[in-house]
Amino acid sequence: MKATPSMLTGKNVMVTGGAGFIGSHLVERLISEKPRSMVVIDNLFLGKERNLTEAKRTFPDLCFYKQDATSSNLVKKIIREKKIDVVFNLAVVPLPASLERPEWTFSQNIRMAEVMCELLRKKEFQTLVHFSSSEVYGTSQTDTIDEMHPLIPLTPYAASKAACDHLVMSYFQAFKNDVIIIRPFNNYGPRQNERSYAGVIPLTIKRILRGEKPIIHGDGKQSRDYIYVRDTADAAVALVNNMHAHGKIINVASGYELKIIDLVCAIMKNMEYNMDIKYADTRPGDVLRHKASTRLLHDLIEFKPRVMFEEGIKKTVAWYKKNLILSQ
Ligand SMILES: NC(=O)c1ccc[n+]([C@@H]2O[C@H](COP(=O)([O-])OP(=O)(O)OC[C@H]3O[C@@H](n4cnc5c(N)ncnc54)[C@H](O)[C@@H]3O)[C@@H](O)[C@H]2O)c1
Repeated sequence: MKATPSMLTGKNVMVTGGAGFIGSHLVERLISEKPRSMVVIDNLFLGKERNLTEAKRTFPDLCFYKQDATSSNLVKKIIREKKIDVVFNLAVVPLPASLERPEWTFSQNIRMAEVMCELLRKKEFQTLVHFSSSEVYGTSQTDTIDEMHPLIPLTPYAASKAACDHLVMSYFQAFKNDVIIIRPFNNYGPRQNERSYAGVIPLTIKRILRGEKPIIHGDGKQSRDYIYVRDTADAAVALVNNMHAHGKIINVASGYELKIIDLVCAIMKNMEYNMDIKYADTRPGDVLRHKASTRLLHDLIEFKPRVMFEEGIKKTVAWYKKNLILSQ
C-alpha cells in the first residue's frame, strides 16, 4: 500500500519555543517529514540553542531566530520573509514561574497565542498547531480525563493555557481558520529544562548526581500520565497529517497513571541510589490525579507509545549523566 504523503512535505514550517524541551524534539521529528524550510523562534528564556544541535546536523539550513514571540511585528516579518505555511506554537512561560510572577506569565502566554491567531486570521500562514497542556483540567474529576472533562485550572499557568485554547478554538469557530490543538500530558526525556523552574524528573536526577536527597512535595501520592517526548512529537505529526484532527483538541498521553513517589523510586533504582527521600510542603496548585483518556487520539491515528516508561527513564538518566553541568 502506498503511504499517504505528509502535509508537511515541501512546506515552510515554523516552531515557536523550538529550542526548548518538546520543541527541539519536535523540530527533529518534523525534519523527517521533509519540509522545504524549518524556522525556530525562541527567546532562550529557558531554551538553549544547543538543543538544536542534532536538528542542525540533519537539516543544516534550519533558521534559528533568538526573538520574542510576543512581538507581532517581529513574528510577522519572519513569517513573510520565510513564506511560512504551518506554525507549531510551543513557546511558553512555565508553571512554576506563574507562582512567582502570575501576571507576567499569564500575559506572555496569552500574547503569544493572540499574535499567532491574528497572523493566521490575516492569512500570513495557513495552519496553526497550538500546544495546550493537561494542566488545564486540574485534578481529575473522573476515572480518566477525556477532552470533554471540565477545565478547572489550579495555577495561573494552567489558566493561561486554558485561555489560549479557548482563543485558538474561537478562531476556528468564528473565522474557520485551520487550527489543531495538541494537549500533551506530562512529558519526560532528554533536554527537559533542569535549571530554574525545572520539573521533578530533571531535579531528582540532578540532586542524586550531586549527592543530595531527592525531594517530594506532599505525600508523593499525586499521580501523572507520563509520555516520552519523542512519542509526543510522533503523535503531533501524525495528527497534523490527518485532516479529521483539524479543528479539534486532542489529548496526547500514554494512558498510564504513575504516582510521583513511584516515579522518584524508579529514578533512584536506575541510579542505584538507596538513601532517603526528603519530603517538603505541598506545592500550591499541585494537581492530585491525572490519567488521560486517549480514545480520541486512537480514533484519529494509529498510536502506540514506542518508549515504555522503564526504557524512557533509563535513556533520560543516561542523557543527564552525560550532559548535565552540575554547577548550574
Ligand atoms: N513539558 C511538559 O510536560 C508539557 C506538558 C504539557 C504541555 N506542554 C506544553 O508544551 C509546550 C512546550 O513545553 P516545554 O516543556 O518544551 O517547555 P520549555 O520551557 O522547554 O520550552 C518552551 C520554550 O519557549 C521559549 N519561550 C518562552 N517565552 C518565549 C517568548 N516570549 N518568545 C519566544 N520563545 C519563548 C523558552 O525559551 C523555551 O525554549 C508548551 O506549550 C507547554 O505548555 C508541556
